[in-house]
Amino acid sequence: MYPNQRNRRLRQSPALRHLVSENQLTCNDLMLPLFVAEGTEVKDPIVAMPGCYRLSLDLLRNELKAIADLGIKAVLLFVKVDDALKDNKGTEAVNPEGLMQKAIRTVKSITPEMVVMSDVALDPYSSFGHDGIVEEGKILNDPSVEVLSKMALSHALAGSDFVAPSDMMDGRVLSIRTVLDEAGLIDTGIMSYSAKYASSFYGPFRQALDSSPGFGDKRSYQMDPANRLEAITETLRDIEEGADIVMIKPGLAYLDIIRDIRENIEAPIAAYQVSGEYAMLKAAAEKGWLDHDTVMMEQLLAFKRAGANLIATYHAKEAAKLLA
Ligand code: PBG
Repeated sequence: MYPNQRNRRLRQSPALRHLVSENQLTCNDLMLPLFVAEGTEVKDPIVAMPGCYRLSLDLLRNELKAIADLGIKAVLLFVKVDDALKDNKGTEAVNPEGLMQKAIRTVKSITPEMVVMSDVALDPYSSFGHDGIVEEGKILNDPSVEVLSKMALSHALAGSDFVAPSDMMDGRVLSIRTVLDEAGLIDTGIMSYSAKYASSFYGPFRQALDSSPGFGDKRSYQMDPANRLEAITETLRDIEEGADIVMIKPGLAYLDIIRDIRENIEAPIAAYQVSGEYAMLKAAAEKGWLDHDTVMMEQLLAFKRAGANLIATYHAKEAAKLLA
């Protein structure tokens, strides 16, 4: 009790504070999401995500070296698909010569040591902008899982280290694991978006990929932001089905979920600081209302404190520079 215990004693100097700090953010925690576009010499700025671009494969090559030099260990790939290639069957999603498959091969050839995580969901490929196959206004579960599994297989064959299903269909992790194993791809991992909420924080991302739902919303497959216990159920199920890493998304507004899941599982947990979170900080910093770098680092550290092991963040390069 005071004055025997003075909590400020441990805060007197930077050295002391470092000695007793409970959590650290390092470059090893960061995954950088990247947007890939068709064409050459394409560097399209994404309006609501200052500092992020859609890059064509040739420019991605140079970018990858810079990312690796900063010490970033993993990239999360997303592709912007031409409208002409979109349908309701995911035809282009399983094309071995598709943009995603080429992007995966590009990363592995330029930076072989970089861990490649590829997004598995139909929305960028869907004429309806939904993550699965649509029939009479409904998103069908099992037929979607079948296509998603083929999609995951084609990513794995292209060299993806981890396939990352972000679709939230039931049973997709087990199906993907089975298809990968049957093909002998036992070392390809699955990072499952286990607790992915139907969130409005995804707005800037959907602009980036032109992937907004054409009708309705995603509430019949993504989770209700009101729910907590359901996140544990979803995550435990994905682990039983064969997920190696589980993800919670969005990030900051869902730190309680990260903590809940940390207390219930041993597997590595990834947090996704999504596009809307990134946009909020950029906008406030632009106005001079928040100090960009210190707020960014505080937010990233908060994920570690909540219990995340990995963080997918559009700030990865900026954070890596500050951490160096
Ligand atoms: C699509 C997908 C989304 C994000 C990642 N994968 C959007 C959505 O579900 O509508 C969002 C990422 C972000 O906002 O940064 N399957």
